[in-house]
Amino acid sequence: MIEIKGVTKKYGNFTAVDNVDIRIPRGSFFALLGPNGAGKTTLIRMLIGLAKPSTGEILINNMKVHRNNNKLKKMIGIVPQYTNLDKELTVRENLIFSAKIFKIPRRKASEKIDQLLEFVELKEIEDRETNKLSGGMKRKLMIAKALINDPQVIFLDEPTVGIDLNSRRKIWDILKSMKKQGKTILLTTHYIEEADYLCNSVSLMNNGRIFYYDTPENLKRLLGEYTLEYFNQEDKTEYKYFESMEEARIYSNNIKTEFTIRKTTLEDVFYNFTNRKVI
Ligand SMILES: Nc1ncnc2c1ncn2[C@@H]1O[C@H](COP(=O)(O)OP(=O)(O)O)[C@@H](O)[C@H]1O
Ligand SMILES: [Mg+2]
Repeated sequence: MIEIKGVTKKYGNFTAVDNVDIRIPRGSFFALLGPNGAGKTTLIRMLIGLAKPSTGEILINNMKVHRNNNKLKKMIGIVPQYTNLDKELTVRENLIFSAKIFKIPRRKASEKIDQLLEFVELKEIEDRETNKLSGGMKRKLMIAKALINDPQVIFLDEPTVGIDLNSRRKIWDILKSMKKQGKTILLTTHYIEEADYLCNSVSLMNNGRIFYYDTPENLKRLLGEYTLEYFNQEDKTEYKYFESMEEARIYSNNIKTEFTIRKTTLEDVFYNFTNRKVI
Protein backbone atom coordinates (compact mmCIF):
# COMPACT_ATOMS: atom_id res chain seq x y z
CA MET A 1 0.00 0.00 0.00
CA ILE A 2 2.85 2.35 0.87
CA GLU A 3 6.22 2.12 -0.86
CA ILE A 4 9.08 4.33 0.22
CA LYS A 5 11.96 3.88 -2.17
CA GLY A 6 15.41 5.24 -1.33
CA VAL A 7 14.02 8.43 0.16
CA THR A 8 16.43 11.07 1.41
CA LYS A 9 15.63 14.58 2.64
CA LYS A 10 18.37 17.15 2.99
CA TYR A 11 18.13 20.61 4.47
CA GLY A 12 21.33 22.27 3.21
CA ASN A 13 24.13 19.98 4.33
CA PHE A 14 21.99 18.32 6.96
CA THR A 15 20.37 14.98 6.16
CA ALA A 16 17.08 14.71 8.08
CA VAL A 17 15.98 11.45 6.39
CA ASP A 18 18.65 9.17 5.03
CA ASN A 19 17.95 6.65 2.27
CA VAL A 20 14.83 5.08 3.74
CA ASP A 21 13.23 2.04 2.10
CA ILE A 22 9.98 0.71 3.52
CA ARG A 23 7.10 -1.27 2.09
CA ILE A 24 3.92 -1.31 4.12
CA PRO A 25 1.29 -3.86 3.06
CA ARG A 26 -2.39 -3.00 2.96
CA GLY A 27 -4.12 -3.35 6.32
CA SER A 28 -1.00 -3.25 8.43
CA PHE A 29 -0.33 -1.10 11.44
CA PHE A 30 3.16 0.30 11.19
CA ALA A 31 5.15 2.32 13.72
CA LEU A 32 8.08 4.61 13.15
CA LEU A 33 9.77 4.60 16.53
CA GLY A 34 12.54 7.01 17.36
CA PRO A 35 13.65 9.84 19.66
CA ASN A 36 13.07 13.53 19.01
CA GLY A 37 14.94 14.66 15.95
CA ALA A 38 15.11 11.16 14.41
CA GLY A 39 13.36 12.38 11.25
CA LYS A 40 9.88 10.96 11.84
CA THR A 41 7.90 14.11 11.08
CA THR A 42 10.04 14.85 8.04
CA LEU A 43 9.27 11.39 6.67
CA ILE A 44 5.53 11.83 7.36
CA ARG A 45 5.57 15.22 5.64
CA MET A 46 7.00 13.58 2.54
CA LEU A 47 4.44 10.77 2.74
CA ILE A 48 1.55 13.24 2.64
CA GLY A 49 3.08 15.42 -0.04
CA LEU A 50 3.91 18.41 2.16
CA ALA A 51 7.65 18.05 1.59
CA LYS A 52 9.47 16.77 -1.46
CA PRO A 53 12.17 14.10 -1.12
CA SER A 54 15.63 15.28 -2.20
CA THR A 55 16.02 11.87 -3.81
CA GLY A 56 13.88 8.75 -4.05
CA GLU A 57 10.15 8.39 -4.43
CA ILE A 58 7.03 7.42 -2.54
CA LEU A 59 4.05 5.52 -3.89
CA ILE A 60 0.74 5.07 -2.14
CA ASN A 61 -1.64 2.60 -3.74
CA ASN A 62 0.69 2.70 -6.77
CA MET A 63 0.29 6.46 -7.14
CA LYS A 64 3.25 8.77 -6.86
CA VAL A 65 2.99 11.18 -3.95
CA HIS A 66 3.28 14.86 -4.78
CA ARG A 67 1.72 18.08 -3.57
CA ASN A 68 -1.02 18.23 -6.20
CA ASN A 69 -2.08 14.63 -6.25
CA ASN A 70 -5.73 15.22 -5.39
CA LYS A 71 -6.75 11.67 -6.12
CA LEU A 72 -4.37 10.56 -3.43
CA LYS A 73 -5.50 13.22 -0.96
CA LYS A 74 -8.97 11.72 -1.11
CA MET A 75 -7.76 8.40 0.18
CA ILE A 76 -5.51 9.47 3.02
CA GLY A 77 -6.23 10.86 6.49
CA ILE A 78 -3.74 12.86 8.52
CA VAL A 79 -3.39 13.49 12.24
CA PRO A 80 -0.48 15.93 12.44
CA GLN A 81 1.87 16.41 15.39
CA TYR A 82 0.45 19.84 16.16
CA THR A 83 -3.23 20.73 16.28
CA ASN A 84 -5.00 21.42 13.01
CA LEU A 85 -8.32 22.43 14.56
CA ASP A 86 -10.11 25.72 14.33
CA LYS A 87 -10.17 26.88 17.95
CA GLU A 88 -13.10 29.26 17.49
CA LEU A 89 -15.41 26.58 16.12
CA THR A 90 -17.25 23.92 18.08
CA VAL A 91 -16.37 20.25 17.90
CA ARG A 92 -19.11 19.58 15.35
CA GLU A 93 -18.36 22.69 13.30
CA ASN A 94 -14.77 21.60 12.88
CA LEU A 95 -15.99 18.39 11.28
CA ILE A 96 -18.56 20.20 9.13
CA PHE A 97 -15.76 22.40 7.87
CA SER A 98 -13.63 19.38 6.95
CA ALA A 99 -16.57 17.69 5.23
CA LYS A 100 -16.97 20.82 3.08
CA ILE A 101 -13.34 20.66 2.01
CA PHE A 102 -14.00 17.15 0.71
CA LYS A 103 -17.29 18.34 -0.86
CA ILE A 104 -19.29 15.72 1.00
CA PRO A 105 -23.02 16.42 0.50
CA ARG A 106 -24.70 17.90 3.57
CA ARG A 107 -26.97 15.02 4.56
CA LYS A 108 -24.23 12.45 4.11
CA ALA A 109 -21.77 14.63 6.03
CA SER A 110 -24.17 14.97 8.92
CA GLU A 111 -24.56 11.20 9.21
CA LYS A 112 -20.84 10.66 8.95
CA ILE A 113 -20.16 13.27 11.64
CA ASP A 114 -22.66 11.66 14.02
CA GLN A 115 -21.01 8.33 13.48
CA LEU A 116 -17.48 9.72 14.00
CA LEU A 117 -18.47 11.63 17.13
CA GLU A 118 -19.83 8.40 18.57
CA PHE A 119 -16.73 6.55 17.53
CA VAL A 120 -14.32 8.92 19.32
CA GLU A 121 -16.78 9.52 22.19
CA LEU A 122 -17.24 13.25 21.70
CA LYS A 123 -20.94 13.24 20.85
CA GLU A 124 -21.96 14.66 24.21
CA ILE A 125 -19.74 17.68 23.82
CA GLU A 126 -20.28 18.32 20.13
CA ASP A 127 -21.33 21.91 20.81
CA ARG A 128 -18.34 22.80 22.94
CA GLU A 129 -15.87 25.31 21.57
CA THR A 130 -12.65 23.60 20.59
CA ASN A 131 -10.42 25.83 22.70
CA LYS A 132 -12.24 24.54 25.79
CA LEU A 133 -11.29 20.90 25.13
CA SER A 134 -8.62 18.95 26.99
CA GLY A 135 -5.57 17.69 25.12
CA GLY A 136 -7.03 14.20 24.88
CA MET A 137 -10.35 15.47 23.50
CA LYS A 138 -8.56 17.61 20.92
CA ARG A 139 -6.58 14.63 19.78
CA LYS A 140 -9.74 12.53 19.44
CA LEU A 141 -11.33 15.31 17.40
CA MET A 142 -8.25 15.40 15.18
CA ILE A 143 -8.67 11.66 14.63
CA ALA A 144 -12.36 12.11 13.74
CA LYS A 145 -11.36 14.89 11.36
CA ALA A 146 -8.80 12.63 9.68
CA LEU A 147 -11.52 10.02 9.12
CA ILE A 148 -14.14 12.31 7.57
CA ASN A 149 -13.29 11.23 4.00
CA ASP A 150 -13.24 7.52 4.91
CA PRO A 151 -9.54 7.20 4.08
CA GLN A 152 -7.91 3.84 3.46
CA VAL A 153 -4.57 5.06 4.74
CA ILE A 154 -4.05 7.06 7.92
CA PHE A 155 -0.93 8.84 9.11
CA LEU A 156 -0.64 9.85 12.74
CA ASP A 157 2.33 11.87 13.99
CA GLU A 158 2.82 11.28 17.73
CA PRO A 159 -0.90 10.88 18.41
CA THR A 160 -0.62 10.51 22.18
CA VAL A 161 2.07 13.01 23.15
CA GLY A 162 1.21 15.18 26.11
CA ILE A 163 -2.10 13.59 27.01
CA ASP A 164 -3.13 11.78 30.17
CA LEU A 165 -2.93 8.03 30.52
CA ASN A 166 -6.67 7.36 30.36
CA SER A 167 -7.08 9.31 27.15
CA ARG A 168 -4.06 7.57 25.72
CA ARG A 169 -5.66 4.19 26.32
CA LYS A 170 -8.90 5.38 24.76
CA ILE A 171 -6.98 6.56 21.70
CA TRP A 172 -5.25 3.20 21.52
CA ASP A 173 -8.68 1.55 21.44
CA ILE A 174 -9.77 3.87 18.65
CA LEU A 175 -6.64 3.05 16.66
CA LYS A 176 -7.12 -0.66 17.23
CA SER A 177 -10.65 -0.57 15.89
CA MET A 178 -9.42 1.40 12.87
CA LYS A 179 -6.99 -1.43 12.24
CA LYS A 180 -9.85 -3.93 12.58
CA GLN A 181 -11.75 -2.01 9.90
CA GLY A 182 -8.88 -2.87 7.55
CA LYS A 183 -7.25 0.55 7.35
CA THR A 184 -3.54 0.87 6.72
CA ILE A 185 -2.08 2.89 9.58
CA LEU A 186 1.30 4.47 10.03
CA LEU A 187 2.09 6.20 13.27
CA THR A 188 5.19 7.81 14.66
CA THR A 189 5.93 7.66 18.33
CA HIS A 190 8.67 7.89 20.88
CA TYR A 191 6.64 5.75 23.29
CA ILE A 192 7.99 2.24 23.19
CA GLU A 193 4.92 0.61 24.68
CA GLU A 194 2.69 2.30 22.11
CA ALA A 195 4.59 0.76 19.21
CA ASP A 196 4.84 -2.57 20.97
CA TYR A 197 1.18 -2.77 21.96
CA LEU A 198 -0.45 -1.51 18.76
CA CYS A 199 1.67 -2.29 15.79
CA ASN A 200 2.42 -5.38 13.78
CA SER A 201 5.57 -3.92 12.37
CA VAL A 202 7.97 -1.42 13.82
CA SER A 203 10.86 0.46 12.31
CA LEU A 204 13.54 1.82 14.58
CA MET A 205 14.71 5.23 13.44
CA ASN A 206 17.70 7.24 14.58
CA ASN A 207 19.57 10.11 12.88
CA GLY A 208 17.36 9.90 9.79
CA ARG A 209 18.07 6.22 9.27
CA ILE A 210 15.90 3.15 9.73
CA PHE A 211 18.22 0.59 11.22
CA TYR A 212 15.75 -2.21 11.90
CA TYR A 213 12.32 -3.00 10.61
CA ASP A 214 10.39 -6.06 11.72
CA THR A 215 7.61 -7.28 14.00
CA PRO A 216 8.03 -6.29 17.68
CA GLU A 217 8.49 -10.00 18.52
CA ASN A 218 11.27 -10.52 15.99
CA LEU A 219 13.02 -7.33 17.07
CA LYS A 220 13.09 -8.56 20.65
CA ARG A 221 14.25 -11.99 19.51
CA LEU A 222 17.20 -10.27 17.84
CA LEU A 223 18.61 -9.66 21.28
CA GLY A 224 17.08 -12.56 23.18
CA GLU A 225 13.67 -12.68 24.80
CA TYR A 226 14.98 -12.30 28.36
CA THR A 227 17.04 -9.48 29.79
CA LEU A 228 19.22 -9.67 32.83
CA GLU A 229 19.75 -6.20 34.22
CA TYR A 230 22.27 -5.54 36.96
CA PHE A 231 24.41 -2.89 38.55
CA ASN A 232 28.08 -3.64 37.95
CA GLN A 233 31.10 -3.02 40.21
CA GLU A 234 31.53 0.46 38.67
CA ASP A 235 27.94 1.41 39.52
CA LYS A 236 26.75 1.18 35.94
CA THR A 237 23.69 -0.71 34.75
CA GLU A 238 24.60 -3.62 32.50
CA TYR A 239 22.24 -5.56 30.27
CA LYS A 240 22.70 -9.13 29.09
CA TYR A 241 20.28 -10.84 26.76
CA PHE A 242 19.32 -14.51 26.69
CA GLU A 243 17.12 -16.78 24.69
CA SER A 244 15.57 -18.35 27.75
CA MET A 245 14.86 -17.57 31.38
CA GLU A 246 16.94 -20.61 32.29
CA GLU A 247 20.08 -19.26 30.62
CA ALA A 248 19.59 -15.89 32.30
CA ARG A 249 19.26 -17.64 35.68
CA ILE A 250 22.43 -19.64 35.17
CA TYR A 251 24.35 -16.49 34.25
CA SER A 252 22.94 -14.62 37.22
CA ASN A 253 24.47 -17.14 39.64
CA ASN A 254 27.80 -15.38 39.20
CA ILE A 255 26.46 -11.89 39.82
CA LYS A 256 27.24 -10.52 43.25
CA THR A 257 25.12 -7.36 43.03
CA GLU A 258 21.40 -6.83 42.74
CA PHE A 259 19.83 -7.94 39.47
CA THR A 260 16.50 -8.49 37.77
CA ILE A 261 15.50 -10.85 35.00
CA ARG A 262 12.65 -9.63 32.83
CA LYS A 263 11.24 -9.83 29.33
CA THR A 264 13.19 -7.90 26.71
CA THR A 265 11.42 -4.74 25.52
CA LEU A 266 11.72 -2.69 22.34
CA GLU A 267 13.50 -0.11 24.48
CA ASP A 268 16.29 -2.65 25.05
CA VAL A 269 16.53 -3.27 21.33
CA PHE A 270 16.72 0.43 20.59
CA TYR A 271 19.25 1.09 23.31
CA ASN A 272 21.41 -1.85 22.31
CA PHE A 273 21.75 -0.67 18.73
CA THR A 274 22.04 3.07 19.29
CA ASN A 275 23.34 3.43 22.82
CA ARG A 276 20.52 5.87 23.11
CA LYS A 277 17.21 5.75 24.95
CA VAL A 278 14.15 6.53 22.86
CA ILE A 279 12.65 8.98 25.32
N1 LIG B 1 12.49 22.68 7.66
C1 LIG B 1 13.62 22.25 8.25
N2 LIG B 1 14.80 22.87 8.06
C2 LIG B 1 15.93 22.43 8.64
N3 LIG B 1 16.01 21.37 9.45
C3 LIG B 1 14.87 20.70 9.69
C4 LIG B 1 13.61 21.08 9.12
N4 LIG B 1 12.66 20.22 9.53
C5 LIG B 1 13.29 19.35 10.34
N5 LIG B 1 14.60 19.62 10.44
C6 LIG B 1 15.58 18.86 11.22
O1 LIG B 1 15.50 17.51 10.85
C7 LIG B 1 15.67 16.65 11.97
C8 LIG B 1 14.49 15.73 12.08
O2 LIG B 1 13.35 16.46 12.50
P1 LIG B 1 11.92 15.81 12.65
O3 LIG B 1 11.59 15.11 11.38
O4 LIG B 1 10.98 16.85 13.12
O5 LIG B 1 12.19 14.74 13.79
P2 LIG B 1 11.16 13.96 14.74
O6 LIG B 1 9.79 14.16 14.20
O7 LIG B 1 11.61 12.53 14.68
O8 LIG B 1 11.32 14.53 16.11
C9 LIG B 1 15.85 17.57 13.19
O9 LIG B 1 17.23 17.67 13.47
C10 LIG B 1 15.27 18.87 12.72
O10 LIG B 1 15.90 19.95 13.37
MG1 LIG C 1 8.11 14.86 15.08
